[in-house]
Amino acid sequence: MNTAKIPVITIDGPSASGKGTVAQLVAKKLGFHYLDSGALYRLVALKTLLSQADIHNADQLAELAKHLDIVFKNEQIYLDGTLVTEDIRAEQCGILASQLAAYPQVRAALTERQRAFRQPPGLVTDGRDMGSVIFPDATLKIFLTASAGIRTQRRYNQLKEKGMDANITDLLQDIQKRDERDSNRSVAPLEQNADARLLDTSALTISQAQDAVLSWYNEMVHINRV
Ligand code: DC
Repeated sequence: MNTAKIPVITIDGPSASGKGTVAQLVAKKLGFHYLDSGALYRLVALKTLLSQADIHNADQLAELAKHLDIVFKNEQIYLDGTLVTEDIRAEQCGILASQLAAYPQVRAALTERQRAFRQPPGLVTDGRDMGSVIFPDATLKIFLTASAGIRTQRRYNQLKEKGMDANITDLLQDIQKRDERDSNRSVAPLEQNADARLLDTSALTISQAQDAVLSWYNEMVHINRV
């Protein structure tokens, strides 16, 4: 199928910016598919931990990434048939995901898997390089961010709500370290692309952020039709 005409909205941004929540809401509103690309990197991390793979062997990790047995179903995620939706949210998985994501071989191993999510009637996806590398021809590209302090607080609340352990000082340090690693790697670094719109959600509610994305998308659809 020629997928080039299927609309895609990419929402890239740093850790804990709320991009996943906004992307999911926008996808629901438009009736589009949703891809959480960070979950794929987290799944590679979890599989690496479970199989005790060598985290310094990029080729071996890429093989592992290529052959991951993953199922996304009803907002749940299964790895090798086991429900892992909550497990991959642990900070340990996020930190390792960020380390493994710096290997070009691992990124390449996940490229086609991500593009396969572009199915009618459309796709909303969030990550770090969705607009720059995976879907460079996306209909609308957004760089969604918030200050490190606000993101730390949001991540803290999220973990607490799930009954998980959390410490504000440690979380802030993790977020800063992750920002630095994701922004400074040589392949597909986290950065605002020239053709992406900036959405700073520091002072916005989730619903305001969602409305901003939807109104930009409607604008793009209108421009493309004219
Ligand atoms: O969005 P997240 O926190 O779930 O992502 C976990 C890590 O995966 C993140 O620190 C960097 C990496 N990642 C990436 O390199 N590229 C993406 N498109 C998505 C995530």
